[in-house]
Amino acid sequence: MSKESTHGGERLVIAIDGPAAAGKGTLARRLAKHYGLAFLDTGALYRAVGLAMLRAGLDPDDAEAAEKVARDLDLSLLDDPALRGIKAGEAASKVARHPGVRKALLRFQRDFAAHAGERGAVLDGRDIGTVVLPDADVKLFVTASPEVRAKRRFEELRGLGRDVTFDEVLAAVRERDERDMNRTEAPLRPAADAHLLDTSELDICAAFRAAREIIDAHLKAKAGGRACT
Ligand code: DC
Repeated sequence: MSKESTHGGERLVIAIDGPAAAGKGTLARRLAKHYGLAFLDTGALYRAVGLAMLRAGLDPDDAEAAEKVARDLDLSLLDDPALRGIKAGEAASKVARHPGVRKALLRFQRDFAAHAGERGAVLDGRDIGTVVLPDADVKLFVTASPEVRAKRRFEELRGLGRDVTFDEVLAAVRERDERDMNRTEAPLRPAADAHLLDTSELDICAAFRAAREIIDAHLKAKAGGRACT
């Protein structure tokens, strides 16, 4: 995936996958800032399709309608506050099962990885390392136990003023894991060459340090390899 960037250096493309609320979004944003890379939250694309379906009164299980919405996706929905809500998350996880929806969003993601950001890009999602960018320079698979993830999501939603209980959030996390891991099309699983990062016991700073070690080792190996040729 490394190729010449516009300023003469090599592009760095990082794929970050993992289940809902594992902390990959926060981590991906920090890594993008640290390495000067563009960032794409690919879950937001699926959420936008889900939200558009709900707003149009369409059933997220309707594959044909969802594909059409994905093809003509209204990107202004990416800034909609409702995008982060539980309903949009559930609808996202349903529309994400449709192969036509995944196909419609694939090109946008690959174009972003290839062109956004002068130095490269970080994409986070469920199938970035396995399907969207199988040649990414560094792949991270970020996990945490369902309870830890539900606690983080619960606190985030309460912080946004949402009226939810912990049990509701835990049930939603489990249901979403089940759907994301067991769908036939691009199920959530680590790529064979992904580095596993379990954040159950790590705060964001520790997770950030661990991820940087992996990426810096990659950059060092690449620089070392170049020096020898
Ligand atoms: O990361 P998130 O919670 O915003 O993702 C919402 C849903 O979108 C998630 O349940 C599965 C789907 N998704 C996907 O199938 N592939 C991706 N690359 C990103 C998200």
